[in-house]
Amino acid sequence: MIQLAGPALPGFLEQAVERYGANPQSALQILMSVQRALHHVPDEAIDLLAKRLSLAPVRLRGLVSFYSFLSAEPQGEYVVHLSDNITDQMRDSRKLEAALCERLGVRLGETRADGRVSVHRTSCIGMSDQGPAALVNYRPVTRLDDDRVGALAGLINARTPLEEWPSEFFRVDSNIRRSDVLFRKPQEPGAGLRASLDRGGKSLEAWEEDLAPTDARRHQLELGGAETLKEIYRSELRGRGGAGFKAGIKWQSVREATRGDRYVICNADEGEPGTFKDRVLLTDFTDMVFEGMTVCGHVVGARKGIIYVRQEYWYLQDHLQAVLERRRAHGLLGRNILGSALDFDIEVHFGAGAYICGMETAMIKSIEGRRGIPRRRWPLPVHQGYLKAPTVVNNVETFACAAAISARGGAWFAGIGTPQSTGTKLFCLSGDCERPGLYEYPMGVSVTEILRDCGANDAQGIQVGGPSGTLVNRSDFDRTLCFEDLPGVGTMMVFGPKRDLFDAITNFALFFQHESCGLCTPCRVGTTLLANYVKKFERGVGSPVDLGEVRHISSLMRNMAHCGLGQSASNHLMDSLQKFPHVWESRMKTMEFVPAFDLDWALEEARSLTGRTDPQAHLPRPLA
Ligand SMILES: Cc1cc2nc3c(=O)[nH]c(=O)nc-3n(C[C@H](O)[C@H](O)[C@H](O)COP(=O)(O)O)c2cc1C
Ligand code: SF4
Repeated sequence: MIQLAGPALPGFLEQAVERYGANPQSALQILMSVQRALHHVPDEAIDLLAKRLSLAPVRLRGLVSFYSFLSAEPQGEYVVHLSDNITDQMRDSRKLEAALCERLGVRLGETRADGRVSVHRTSCIGMSDQGPAALVNYRPVTRLDDDRVGALAGLINARTPLEEWPSEFFRVDSNIRRSDVLFRKPQEPGAGLRASLDRGGKSLEAWEEDLAPTDARRHQLELGGAETLKEIYRSELRGRGGAGFKAGIKWQSVREATRGDRYVICNADEGEPGTFKDRVLLTDFTDMVFEGMTVCGHVVGARKGIIYVRQEYWYLQDHLQAVLERRRAHGLLGRNILGSALDFDIEVHFGAGAYICGMETAMIKSIEGRRGIPRRRWPLPVHQGYLKAPTVVNNVETFACAAAISARGGAWFAGIGTPQSTGTKLFCLSGDCERPGLYEYPMGVSVTEILRDCGANDAQGIQVGGPSGTLVNRSDFDRTLCFEDLPGVGTMMVFGPKRDLFDAITNFALFFQHESCGLCTPCRVGTTLLANYVKKFERGVGSPVDLGEVRHISSLMRNMAHCGLGQSASNHLMDSLQKFPHVWESRMKTMEFVPAFDLDWALEEARSLTGRTDPQAHLPRPLA
């Protein structure tokens, strides 16, 4: 941790303002820089920054309380965030967590008295293929086991700087197990962009016969953009971030906007537990992602692109900046790209720990330096997005596909996959399979084929598309992965025959309870009520009346919640009730109603704190 007492803080903030800009949009980036340096955001920093950015201090405090990686309370010199996805738990992360806390002499969620270390749980950090994993001072440490946890505790106790830790601890593998036509090897940087510009047709000399040189260049640019849009339409490319909206329609809406400024935003928030494809694309196919954004900039007439990357991937910051620099040096970004009239550049923006910021309107607010709370559905971002200007928001994989489509043509892409789901798709395999990692298949591949390839023939169930997706059982394994059957971001968490699926149900319910942004009542209250019912069943005291309530609340949330988070937060509950009813039934105590509040159970924490294990410490149980 950097020592920034007294006079050093203003200098540090000034440097951050210089780097990110003296505008409200920089607020979150600067606060996160302070957090990474000081491991909390002191009041002094809030006051100084508020003055510098001409913002009310309360607005900055609102950011600190909203984003889970920002903290007003001092954290330890080492801050450990343990990934708590169900796939981590399936590899004993909870035991490792207990061992780590014991060796460090710290309680979960607290900071050690000497200020050396804090240990927290966080939701999935995007390393499900190599978990259990943790962030230590925002750097991922993968493949935790007893030895690594012991070594980690030793290094922290000895106050060893992270730079001196074994580099192996921070190794992040891409684990590409199967690739197909798109991601077999990275496309030549510039290929998609050059093709897009070349579609401008006639050589400049020919245009210049009829038009002034600047008009000719602009005309050529316009024509190229229009032709590339036709290729995107021809490809039938649908968004890879979940909803599957046609990219061509989105791009055209922004292209046709009458207002001046337009923006291109790449959604690299990748918060859906179990998903890590964007991490791999940003690592190994970075040029393709930036190229897709630039091609989009050409088509829609934007001059600026922003990539919003989750804070968990902060370790990619230097790599992303290096690729951007290289592209600028090669004329693939900046002014007059490849000698054309196209000006376009890309800025990297990091999140600060909020799943809801993957939702596009919440993400736009976050980029604007606000709390990531979804706004009302209309107007759509294509009409009023970032800074109220027309904005394209697409997923990382969508942009990578767009780069390939521009280079190889829409018809080529449309010839792969199924009629309604063209192209290939990346799938993130984790959980009970022999070969976890990334798999690329043409759209329409069956669940069985993927399970065979990853070594999971005995699976009892798979969560497709993350906690907000679909839970499938064996009778669904011949179903296909595509928009017309099983859609989703490409996440597949595999549960083997011996797993208790209720652990996954509990993990997902607590995840949604934690991640609800709290704006609307059906979701804010509903996720908490559902989590309480799940906990009640976990204790083995559920009843049919409770199941009725779970169904009722789920239906209310699906119909009444403001955004996709609340609308899909109970999918796993409904799916499990339908496909794995025994998992719930085995946790019913009686066919009668049992109150959700159990006083004796509620006193459990007090008993454990005081070390009372004697029978007198329990309330008498009513006769069953
Ligand atoms: C709660 C929630 C979280 C989301 N998270 C992501 C995400 O991490 N990445 C993403 O691309 N889209 C995410 N989306 C979908 C985006 O709102 C948006 O539809 C998508 O980025 C559009 O890109 P696409 O058309 O290329 O799929 C999320 C939606 C919701 C409701
Ligand atoms: S549904 Fe949930 S996450 Fe979405 S706006 Fe409402 S409270 Fe926020």
